[in-house]
Amino acid sequence: MKIALNGASGFTGRLAVAELARRGIDAVLVGRDPERLRAAAAGTGFEVRIADIGDQDALRSAFGDVDAVVNTAGPFARLGAPVVRAAIAAEAHYVDTTGEQQYISDVFGAFASAAADAGVTIVPAMADDGGPSDFIGHLVGEAAGTVDVMTAALWYRDGGFSRGTLRSLDPDLLFDGALRYENGGWTTYAEPSRLSWRFPGAADAVRVGKAALPPVVTVPRHVPVRSMEGLLGGSFDQLTGGIEPAFIDSLPEGPDDAQRRQSKWTICVEAVTSAGRAAFGEVEGTDGYGKTAVIAVEAARRLVVNGANAGVLAPSQAFDPESFLGFLSGHGVRWLVTEG
Ligand SMILES: NC(=O)c1ccc[n+]([C@@H]2O[C@H](COP(=O)([O-])OP(=O)(O)OC[C@H]3O[C@@H](n4cnc5c(N)ncnc54)[C@H](OP(=O)(O)O)[C@@H]3O)[C@@H](O)[C@H]2O)c1
Repeated sequence: MKIALNGASGFTGRLAVAELARRGIDAVLVGRDPERLRAAAAGTGFEVRIADIGDQDALRSAFGDVDAVVNTAGPFARLGAPVVRAAIAAEAHYVDTTGEQQYISDVFGAFASAAADAGVTIVPAMADDGGPSDFIGHLVGEAAGTVDVMTAALWYRDGGFSRGTLRSLDPDLLFDGALRYENGGWTTYAEPSRLSWRFPGAADAVRVGKAALPPVVTVPRHVPVRSMEGLLGGSFDQLTGGIEPAFIDSLPEGPDDAQRRQSKWTICVEAVTSAGRAAFGEVEGTDGYGKTAVIAVEAARRLVVNGANAGVLAPSQAFDPESFLGFLSGHGVRWLVTEG
């Protein structure tokens, strides 16, 4: 098995390099900057291939002999589509680490038939938010039966964001432009259904706001729901007006190792049936960036080893949700589904 890692020189990319090496998976590291790529490859023996995302031929040839592509180069709204296109042209499976809801939705719209024709599987959003939230959403949906209203809530804390994440947070899309699923389609909407959420382990209810979460555009593809929305916990006042690019450039590349490892993430999903029956799911872990690397590499490995239907798939359409969450349990991720 050979996996291409595009964006290997970035903060998340380098964690994925370490994970590929730890798993003993043969990889080629792809990016635009030879020096940064060689530094990322140091000590691994991985081959380095130079391709700017603006150069479609170079990308396709960099992916020419690989079984799957892991893409960690964001912002995905700007950089993602050419990489998906090149993976399809090279007949390689594809996963990425995006959390950008509109981009995920666009990938389904733009690439479903090309991926099916090429016989490859494309799974966007295999990061610490998109993968686990989709899996737990699937299991909660199964527990509830026919779901009327599903709500996903995400809470990050005690960590910090990488420059790449801050560059990918478009406040217009993340907050006002958040999509909700409603009667068979996705639309923007005015107000969230609630303003606080009781996350497990939190002493008090946490303030939440409407947010463009990945599961809202993936879960309704495999769980029959009438309505679904996403909520983000915590205070995001500094983000709502956007962050000056020059300020982001002045920040460190990402949290240091200690900060990164102590960061925590929790995802809750609630499903209520029209009869008023409820089911709940929670999944939580630490080290969101480290877990993202683990999730993306395992997803690519599973696509190559186990296969999945060709096309663009939600995580739970490509992988067995219980099996993938079980794998993550081995990395300290805790998850639970209960019926109320
Ligand atoms: N949803 C989640 O939970 C989650 C978790 C982790 C990461 N992410 C997402 O993953 C993405 C990466 O984050 P990060 O912190 O790793 O960012 P980063 O450190 O800025 O890395 C970005 C990568 O993209 C590469 N790149 C940028 N423009 C390119 C171009 N024109 N051609 C080729 N390569 C190019 C960079 O190459 P250079 O080194 O040459 O600049 C670098 O390797 C972000 O969108 C982030 O939001 C999401």
